[in-house]
Amino acid sequence: MGRVALVTGGSRGIGAAIAKKLKEDGYAVAATYAGNDEAAAKFTEETGIKTYKWNVADYDESKAGIDKVEAELGPIDVVVANAGITKDAPFHKMTPEQWQQVIDTNLTGVFNTVHPVWPGMRERKFGRVIVISSINGQKGQFAQVNYAATKAGDLGIVKSLAQEGARAGITANAVCPGYIATEMVMAVPDKVREAIIGQIPAGRLGEPEEIARCVAFLASDDAGFINGSTISANGAQFFV
Ligand code: CAA
Repeated sequence: MGRVALVTGGSRGIGAAIAKKLKEDGYAVAATYAGNDEAAAKFTEETGIKTYKWNVADYDESKAGIDKVEAELGPIDVVVANAGITKDAPFHKMTPEQWQQVIDTNLTGVFNTVHPVWPGMRERKFGRVIVISSINGQKGQFAQVNYAATKAGDLGIVKSLAQEGARAGITANAVCPGYIATEMVMAVPDKVREAIIGQIPAGRLGEPEEIARCVAFLASDDAGFINGSTISANGAQFFV
């Protein structure tokens, strides 16, 4: 099909599954990563997907990285803002640094990723913006005041972008994964994770591929009238 897709945080976890699925579907894919050179090199070796290193929290780095991707692969048609971090702590222990790092990466990072590709999408009258939010942006989560704020913010971003992009053939949607079997969730203390699984009616964590398939659908021509929506994939843990 010849379309180009950019996936931030695309060398590990949910992002890696998204990058692989989009490649399978025929996109030329660029995956970004922040710091783990070893994981990125392994990912490229295994998948043939090119990886690019930049910090999504930095606008100038993001813009320069996106210019490089577009010079190498062509104009970006599909942007998946997936890169995200956690710095969990109960609110009374959360430091201003923990707050700011998560805001900068997860929320400002979405602005920095989408803003540079937006003018080109408007000119070409086609674009797909997909932001990976979270169940915890929908319901809140103990020890995640910072993370939940960013993931709720994602929903405001896509609802606003949807209205701005609709006439220009651009859709903007969010996917809210529940608890998925990735390094991020595995980093939660075992006891806490077991308790969380107990709250999931499906009785299991989700698989990264289950999120990747939602993203691939939203990226497709078939999803052209879905705009400003949120797809929840959480094993019935939470309904909006
Ligand atoms: N609900 C209510 N109370 C909770 C709780 C919860 N979910 N989790 C912990 N607590 C309570 C504990 O029982 C404990 O209470 P007591 O003091 O009465 O015993 C107290 O909170 C914990 O206090 P601590 O001082 O021990 O906490 P801590 O500073 O050591 O922090 C923690 C521990 C960071 C909260 C740790 O338990 C943790 O990481 N929890 C997981 C948070 C979580 O679910 N994060 C999601 C990560 S996955 C993700 O983000 C991906 C996604 O999008 C879904």
